Amino acid sequence: MKNNLLVIFALLSVGLWACGGNEKKAETTIKTPQKTVAKVNPGKSVYRKAACGSCHGTDGKKGMYQASDLSTTTMTMEERTEIIANGKGNMNAFKDVLSPKEISQVAQYIDQLKEK
Ligand code: HEC
Repeated sequence: MKNNLLVIFALLSVGLWACGGNEKKAETTIKTPQKTVAKVNPGKSVYRKAACGSCHGTDGKKGMYQASDLSTTTMTMEERTEIIANGKGNMNAFKDVLSPKEISQVAQYIDQLKEK
């Protein structure tokens, strides 16, 4: 009984919202893909700016100075963030070069290298 009431209420609110909000809804649908692109690209520019590619290559597979293949890395976001910030082996630390936000963006960008 309680559930039925909830469903009716939900349907009512959707109905009300749909009548008044059609224009707004169309706007948000158009905006969403652009937001996704804006979110995806910063990591790529950080990757270029910090010249990660000089060792890892634009596709992550170059392996210069024994650099790990980023397209096959199994590291979690935390582990990547840690290595990018503090460096490891032949890889220098980036915490003085990149902001924490940029480090997290470029750590996320590695996921795109993995998809290819
Ligand atoms: C000077 C060459 C060099 C540069 C520049 C460089 N790396 Fe590395 N990177 C390495 C090497 C070498 C390793 C392997 C470290 C080890 O395990 O000893 C590595 C490892 C990593 C790893 C760990 C991956 C794994 O699975 O082991 C990540 C993530 C990473 N690099 C990301 C980046 C990012 C992002 C940048 C740019 C901000 C960058 N690297 C710039 C040389 C470099």
